[in-house]
Amino acid sequence: MAKPALSLLDFKNVTSNQVHLLFEKASQIEKQNRTVQKLHSPVALVFFEPSTRTRMSFEMATKRLGLSTLSFLGGAGSSLEKGETLEDTLLNIQAMKPSLIILRAPDSLDLVKLQTKLELPLISGGWGVAGHPTQALLDAYSIKKFRGRLEGERVLFLGDTYHSRVAASHLELSKILKYEVGSFGPADWNIKKRYPDAAVAEFKNLKESLSWATVVVALRAQLERHSSGLTMEAQREYHKVYGLNPESLKNLSLESLIMHPGPVNYGVEIDESVLSDSRCRILQQVTSGVFIRQSLLHTFLEEPREWS
Ligand code: CP
Repeated sequence: MAKPALSLLDFKNVTSNQVHLLFEKASQIEKQNRTVQKLHSPVALVFFEPSTRTRMSFEMATKRLGLSTLSFLGGAGSSLEKGETLEDTLLNIQAMKPSLIILRAPDSLDLVKLQTKLELPLISGGWGVAGHPTQALLDAYSIKKFRGRLEGERVLFLGDTYHSRVAASHLELSKILKYEVGSFGPADWNIKKRYPDAAVAEFKNLKESLSWATVVVALRAQLERHSSGLTMEAQREYHKVYGLNPESLKNLSLESLIMHPGPVNYGVEIDESVLSDSRCRILQQVTSGVFIRQSLLHTFLEEPREWS
């Protein structure tokens, strides 16, 4: 039987050694750029859902490695409009023989099943609410870089943890890299409703949660995933109870970090002034993301044994 292609859809079969090698390579890439053999076929970016950071970060990583990309973005003007399925679309892109596929997919696409039909390496660029592994990796890499360590760090996810694929991936990665995860937000949006057995610290109020954290990751209130939406008044109320602003951030220690995977709803989960707080690393996370993705692509294409 053929060996399954490399993939990164989640962290279920990933070891701490693999992640540390990836981080080490990303750190070397930060200091001295690396390229890959120019013989590789283009990297396919297949984004069935909107994205700015992940798509452009992978594109930047690919180009910095000296490779080209083949892009399917959103599907407007494609045969999806004629009723072709996402699965068929992907199988046809595979048939063009790119070197690997980076995929952002909705929950409705069963990637675990689909993976058995794919012969090419597959990297998730965010899959519904299931996970966003490269975002978790770049967050962890940023924490290690700016806090000097990961093990024992107390990472608080603030807000809509229930719908957060980023928080879901951190639940897995934290077990491998041994950092603690906490959650605070509206009771209906609690990640424990999806993962009741997960080891997640919970809190009575924002003050208590921020006093606990060494890193706070504010999450976007995913207005599009809530059928009732959030009125402007409800968004203001949300900010009063769960928002990061100069007043609430008095409860976060001066050495802690403020992060956000983006995109940000300013005035909802974060006040715009937080961007100039000396603890804020939101844009540095984006910079780290390119190094992590360069490292991952380099590993998959040039040193696959490090990942298998
Ligand atoms: N962090 C993140 O996934 O952002 P995009 O949706 O813009 O890719």
